[in-house]
Amino acid sequence: YRRLRVALLGAGAVGSQVAALLRQHADELADRAGARLELVGIAVRDVDAPRETDLPRDLFTTDAESLIVGSDIVIELMGGIEPARAYILQAINSGADVVTANKALLATHGPEIFDAADQVGAEVYYEAAAAGAIPIIRPLRDSLAGDRVQRIMGIVNGTTNYILDRMDTEGAEFADVLADAQRLGYAEADPTADVEGFDAAQKAAILASLAFHTTVPLDAVHREGITAIDKSMMDAARHAGYVIKLLAVCERLTEASGSESISVRVYPALIDRAHPLASVHGANNAVFVQAEAAGNLMFYGAGAGGVQTASAVLGDVVSAARRHIAGGVGVGESTLANLPVVPVGRV
Ligand code: HSE
Repeated sequence: YRRLRVALLGAGAVGSQVAALLRQHADELADRAGARLELVGIAVRDVDAPRETDLPRDLFTTDAESLIVGSDIVIELMGGIEPARAYILQAINSGADVVTANKALLATHGPEIFDAADQVGAEVYYEAAAAGAIPIIRPLRDSLAGDRVQRIMGIVNGTTNYILDRMDTEGAEFADVLADAQRLGYAEADPTADVEGFDAAQKAAILASLAFHTTVPLDAVHREGITAIDKSMMDAARHAGYVIKLLAVCERLTEASGSESISVRVYPALIDRAHPLASVHGANNAVFVQAEAAGNLMFYGAGAGGVQTASAVLGDVVSAARRHIAGGVGVGESTLANLPVVPVGRV
């Protein structure tokens, strides 16, 4: 196989799992991608900081710019706006494809980054930027491209769903469960981003932009968090047959005149206990999509967590590698894994 040089920026909860899985499944990923994905280095702020996975020390560097030079695929998992933005633009302009989970950056500087990629024929992959492990970016961008999405209702923040779920099912107190969500690695570095709805608003802007084939600026997203929700409100909702969830609602509105507009809102909503979104527990996420022809679709799974989100990142890395191998056009074929097929009835 041809070798592709993969640079990783960031080794936090997701980055360290991506690095570990890239090494652990190197042979299988090479078969899938049609290229060997060689992790050439990991740029971090502090080379000696403790990591979640065991990685050779000589992979680490503090010099992201040198690492990006000559890389074929750059995975940005540092988060935040700068220097992530500058590194991504450097990667694009030096001919690399980019994989990122950076919802804050895409929700605020998406057009700049996508334009830069278009200029040079590079691709930016971001399946992990919304709803963690759940495949939702490709379905909205590709699978539903022939349909008209009417509405998305999403539970897109794992931390707040975990908190509200434990308040609902155990009568737990907000502060105690927030501490647990941080310990479990669901919360952002600054959990205000989760509990005040900023994280969900960024993801809503990304999903709405894809669903409605437009650019939804972050400041057009109405945002309310969950800090005002207390036990008595949870109890009142339960008695009335509802559960409170932080929802991201992205809707196509049609005026009587026939003109259309888009509304995107994040707020704690009352959900009927019979609705599928009511049974999304723990740090799981779900995205309920209503499309004109397809009808109702629901995408469900782990919305946060290092190794879960790493799955979405690695899928993007394989896609980027296939595109590279195909010379920047189309998608390459993966080699069949040659696994025996179990006859019907044996499992
Ligand atoms: N803090 C985020 C959440 C992580 O809780 O959903 C995944 O984006």
